[in-house]
Amino acid sequence: MTDILIRNVAVLDGTGAEPFMADVSVDAGRIAGVHAVGGAGPAKKEIDGEGLTLSPGFVDTHAHDDGAFFRHPDMAFKLAQGVTTVVSGNCGFSAIPADPDQDSVAASGGILAGLVGEFTDLDGYFGAVLARQPAINNMMLVGHNTVRTLVMGWEQRSPTHAELDAMRGHVARAIEQGACGFSTGLIYRPGRWSETEEVIELASEAKAFDALYTTHMRNEGDHLLEAVDETLRIGREADVHAHISHHKSSGRPNWGRIGESLAKVDAALATGQRVTLDVYPYTAGSGRMIEYFNLDRVSRDLAEVIRIASCPAFREYEGRMLVDIAAEEGIDVTEAVTKILTAEKGDRTICIQFIIDEADVETNLAHTDMMVGSDGIPDLRGKPHPRLFGTFPRVLGHYVRERGILSLPEAVRRMTSLSAATFGLKDRGQIREGYWADLVLFDPAAIIDTATYDAPQSEPDGIRLVVVNGAVAYERNDPGRPGIHTGAGTGAMLRYRRDPFPG
Ligand code: ZN
Ligand code: CU
Repeated sequence: MTDILIRNVAVLDGTGAEPFMADVSVDAGRIAGVHAVGGAGPAKKEIDGEGLTLSPGFVDTHAHDDGAFFRHPDMAFKLAQGVTTVVSGNCGFSAIPADPDQDSVAASGGILAGLVGEFTDLDGYFGAVLARQPAINNMMLVGHNTVRTLVMGWEQRSPTHAELDAMRGHVARAIEQGACGFSTGLIYRPGRWSETEEVIELASEAKAFDALYTTHMRNEGDHLLEAVDETLRIGREADVHAHISHHKSSGRPNWGRIGESLAKVDAALATGQRVTLDVYPYTAGSGRMIEYFNLDRVSRDLAEVIRIASCPAFREYEGRMLVDIAAEEGIDVTEAVTKILTAEKGDRTICIQFIIDEADVETNLAHTDMMVGSDGIPDLRGKPHPRLFGTFPRVLGHYVRERGILSLPEAVRRMTSLSAATFGLKDRGQIREGYWADLVLFDPAAIIDTATYDAPQSEPDGIRLVVVNGAVAYERNDPGRPGIHTGAGTGAMLRYRRDPFPG
């Protein structure tokens, strides 16, 4: 008798193939078999799938959940979307390497909030997260900004030979312990102070494991194309797979230029270079507000499209546009920026910026092999960007069903087998005998995000069941009531192309 049998489901196996009706059995954490309807059983727990769609669990290729695994081990905002694995450590900010005597949360400006400094390396981090019985799986990147801060502080110069060696050592150690690659956030401090050559040196540490170089590029607006050139050069010269995070062309004057950027990627692919991308399905970005402004010359254009997500200095501003705050207080919108950022803890403000064109989002999603990453910042105290709760159902409900930008099997492929293969999730991303049983049962006619900018902490509709490593982690049998997070706590700490930690 197997642990679970999910009967009568339309299987979307993750490969992009059309769905077929089947029963799927699960045992000891893995998929035991894919059977003709009525052809298997009995099982300890039998679930009637009612003809709904069963796919592999979704892979969030771009997450900042390093600290959320400590603060919110239920990972409810991801699990309820059908996400069973996140890739954390993005944009150059990672939980590891860490020095317990340094405040790693301060260095990342709240993006990694929740981390408790009781580890120094990836093995230590994985052990600390597992002790909290996380709901979903985690794959890690090692971040440039974190490594550079640890070795050089916030020095605005190139590293010495000794510093570069020390940084290389940290990157190599994390990848040896199972990180899937090296991430940068070259728009942020201290990454922005590094020359391309430094990044090439560090990214080349991924080569021995055939791991990735992922990047929040140096520029996503006026200088997007140069930034893509830099990324491709780093991939070529370090001889590693390059992955562009949250591909966008930001700022109204740059709207519509996403096609030129994708053309550069296509040209590189045609030469045999390995390069991939991800996108989030929204027209607003979000991040640490202080990184976007020069306080000597505050950009009015940017200030006018900013909304405050979380703001420890002025909680009453959360969920409001800067222009409205400024009007109410009788100050200029640029003064509102200065007021917030120069207040105590003002540097911890997370903002939402409406800088992306809807047509560019669709162009991105229409591109072959474009993956999906939420880029959600898991600070639940304010009004986070709705992508934290809504990304995957939004792609499947809005862009697949309502807009027809891509087909359902193709969208699921990019959220499962393609992302699992790219980020080295061993035996995951397909519904296939012997693969880990990370599964999501959903209604393709009903799946949709419900999180909005005004009410962002809202779980999506249309997800019936989520299984993580063979255990039911989330169920919603009555669409009129909230889903149930079972607290199974079966999430694993994944290692690139290897068995999970500790293995
Ligand atoms: Zn980023
Ligand atoms: Cu990010």
